[in-house]
Amino acid sequence: MTAKRTYRIARIGGDGIGPEVVAQASRVAEAAGRVSGFDIVWTDYPFGAGHYLKTGEILPESALDEFASHDALLLGAIGDPAVKPGVLEQGILLKLRFHFDQYVNLRPAKSLPRVPLPVKADSVDIVVVRENTEDFYMNIGGTSGGKNFRIDFEATRKAYDLKGSVSLAFEPAYRAAVQLGIATEAGIRRITEYACSVAKARNEDKVVLASKSNALSWIYGFWEEISKDEAGRHGVELTVANVDALCYHLVRDPGRFGVILTPNMFGDIVSDLLAGIAGGLGTAAGANIGDGLSMFEPVHGSAPDIAKTGKANPVAAILSAALMLRHIGEAQAAEAVEDAVESYLAESEHADLPWEFGGKAPTSEVGKAIAERVKKGRS
Ligand code: NAD
Ligand code: IPM
Ligand code: MN
Repeated sequence: MTAKRTYRIARIGGDGIGPEVVAQASRVAEAAGRVSGFDIVWTDYPFGAGHYLKTGEILPESALDEFASHDALLLGAIGDPAVKPGVLEQGILLKLRFHFDQYVNLRPAKSLPRVPLPVKADSVDIVVVRENTEDFYMNIGGTSGGKNFRIDFEATRKAYDLKGSVSLAFEPAYRAAVQLGIATEAGIRRITEYACSVAKARNEDKVVLASKSNALSWIYGFWEEISKDEAGRHGVELTVANVDALCYHLVRDPGRFGVILTPNMFGDIVSDLLAGIAGGLGTAAGANIGDGLSMFEPVHGSAPDIAKTGKANPVAAILSAALMLRHIGEAQAAEAVEDAVESYLAESEHADLPWEFGGKAPTSEVGKAIAERVKKGRS
């Protein structure tokens, strides 16, 4: 008899609705494991606002070492109104993405049964492939109130260390801020290659790049040049859309889009837009994928406005767990979870749907209903 498969998953509930939706995603993943014949052993980590305010600790190096020995990381959301914006988001979430060189942020935007779309389209099936380690997310910048403005910076990525300085002289003296965006050829090539592989898996031979070279020619002109060349090598046609016009067309006619490749910052914005278009942030799943530890988290944040009310829709976290199951090699379990979400949405009484869709089912009841459907198989 072969031994039962066991996966070790690190888990950070995080802040606000994070722990609430991660609890349901875990419950559904465990149900899928029971049906498919594997176990999940969770290792819980307390990082987030509560832990930081109590201990002053954000994310210790020792935890990064421990995460590395796991099969994946499941994360809820990070960020709390009691902590200055950026401290935890950069110190935990971005730190994890950069440390593990999770260069792909995969964010599918797929409409679901009976979830109304706010746009004129019968369905939406778009995947955002967001570069996840560079662009304006390098945290290179500074502020100054003086005439001569010099910032020294250092940044580390898996493939390179970056050191440098920027000096500016204002005449007369001005208070000012600067933030630098970086794009490397290797960084653009690897994410473009990934986007091409996503297109091919969908039997498509086109990718749209969200760009803005008309205004930011250095960085996005470079993106266009390199990504077109790389896509060409994979037999994929890459067309460029200015991100402003792209947002317009996404709202007017989302049906004409498939795979959208984006630099980091545009990807952040376009993925929330698409979450809205496809039915709601509570349904939008995400994966941060690299060659080492990958991390799975919904597109949404900690939603402090609805924390502890039962209004949080756990579907996004549950579908993120499905992406995780597929990533660790349990494709059948992933499909069982996705099928269960669809049948739950298609067949439930209106009152048994999440608050986000006008129903009355609290977060835990939604998770329970989906887990039960996973156990039963599709009806
Ligand atoms: P948000 O995504 O938390 O919320 C935006 C809106 O969507 C809110 O009205 C919220 O109630 C609603 N919403 C979000 N998730 C929902 C769900 N599952 N079900 C129903 N409604 C949902 O964005 P925000 O308000 O800008 O950010 C709140 C905090 O989260 C900030 O601290 C921010 O930095 C952080 N944040 C973290 C992540 C992450 O950890 N990946 C992502 C985005 C924002
Ligand atoms: C996301 C979030 C993060 C990002 C923030 C919290 C740093 O908005 O995952 O979309 O900008 O990537
Ligand atoms: Mn975002």
